[in-house]
Amino acid sequence: MKKVDLSVEFCGIRFPNPFVLAAAPPTDDAEMIARGFDAGWGGAVVKTLGLEHVEVNLVSPMMAGLSYEDKGLIGLENIDLISDRDINEVLAEVSELKKSYPEQVLIVSMMAGSEKEWKEITRRVQAAGADMIECSFSCPHGMPEKGMGSAVGQDAGLTYERAKWVVEAAEIPVLIKLTPNVTDMRPIAQKVKEAGAAGVTAINTVKALLGFDLDTFSPVPSVNGKSTEGGFSGPAIKPIALRFVADVVKDVGIPVAGVGGVVTWQDSVEFLLAGAGIVEVCTAVMRYGFDIVEELTEGLALYLEDKGMSSPMELIGLGLPNIVSHESLSREYKAIASIDEDLCVGCGQCIVACRDGGHQAIEFRGRQEDGGLSDADDARIPEVDDEKCIGCGFCRTVCPVDGCISMTQRED
Ligand SMILES: Cc1cc2nc3c(=O)[nH]c(=O)nc-3n(C[C@H](O)[C@H](O)[C@H](O)COP(=O)(O)O)c2cc1C
Repeated sequence: MKKVDLSVEFCGIRFPNPFVLAAAPPTDDAEMIARGFDAGWGGAVVKTLGLEHVEVNLVSPMMAGLSYEDKGLIGLENIDLISDRDINEVLAEVSELKKSYPEQVLIVSMMAGSEKEWKEITRRVQAAGADMIECSFSCPHGMPEKGMGSAVGQDAGLTYERAKWVVEAAEIPVLIKLTPNVTDMRPIAQKVKEAGAAGVTAINTVKALLGFDLDTFSPVPSVNGKSTEGGFSGPAIKPIALRFVADVVKDVGIPVAGVGGVVTWQDSVEFLLAGAGIVEVCTAVMRYGFDIVEELTEGLALYLEDKGMSSPMELIGLGLPNIVSHESLSREYKAIASIDEDLCVGCGQCIVACRDGGHQAIEFRGRQEDGGLSDADDARIPEVDDEKCIGCGFCRTVCPVDGCISMTQRED
């Protein structure tokens, strides 16, 4: 069996493993980053810094969670801003951290306004000993009002201009963190490439209005009765993030740091398959703590071993050739739902879903003319009508038992 080495090379930098703490509250302080590194994270993106004169005036509360049925925190909305800490203090911590953790990769996230400021902050971050720079062109709230954040990442011209300023001043690799709040990220990522940046980080949070308090009519998180649109993160945004990562890797061909909704090692494998070279994590760390990296690294190592691979780099982009246009999908392949009677718990959710969301192709075996069920032991086993089933797959998505409903190829 091949020995697995989790280290990866990304934009010319060697990471001990592909798991990196994203720019967010867990990386706003050296003590926290050190605990993250001790837990096993391969790198960290220090929370976005601005120059001294940028006023960062935080509100509270600044976060609210989205639950659905019994699933808590499927998404998180924040109206946090960039770091409100003094840049000199943070950069002094960066220098110390780099000395204590020479193997782990320290990326510093930053944001500025004019060319002079972008170049100045680049030089200062570099002088502090950062391994890489990540420029936030992507915060969806607060900063766009000042012509920064996603106001930059939503405009290909501004992205090119600012990325070029940073690249001109930088001697270390530069990542540009882009916003998903665009129709198509590819023309913008193309400009990042033309500006000479080493890579793209995708994605920052998705602009959202999380919901309302039904008694006060205030959106949440409510800041004394009012709120504003914020940035949505966590498991609910993973499909959006995967789409943007795949789009950029496939059509622009620039290295991508993938981020958005990663909780498990399986999620991280999906990002690698979509072409990401490293995987950043924020909300899951905030919720479950730095120690989740243990499961991420162990799970990924065992998966690679099982696949006969020795490095996560072997996985990068393997899923891309299987993403094709809708038109190119096979019309000869026909699927049908098949239900495993031994696993079925007789809940009937597939029947409701197929009846009112599909093609009325599933019914309890014991269903009688009057709509009731017979007394037979197997009366609550659902059966699929081959004639009516069009193989849409919706019944499988509502079944509460893993593997009970599968979509198999029709034989006729
Ligand atoms: C509370 C909070 C603060 C954040 N602050 C920053 C920031 O300062 N700079 C930045 O580039 N991204 C920031 N992010 C975005 C994350 O780095 C990440 O891109 C996003 O949350 C998606 O990843 P996730 O689903 O793993 O959380 C923040 C996210 C949260 C939840």
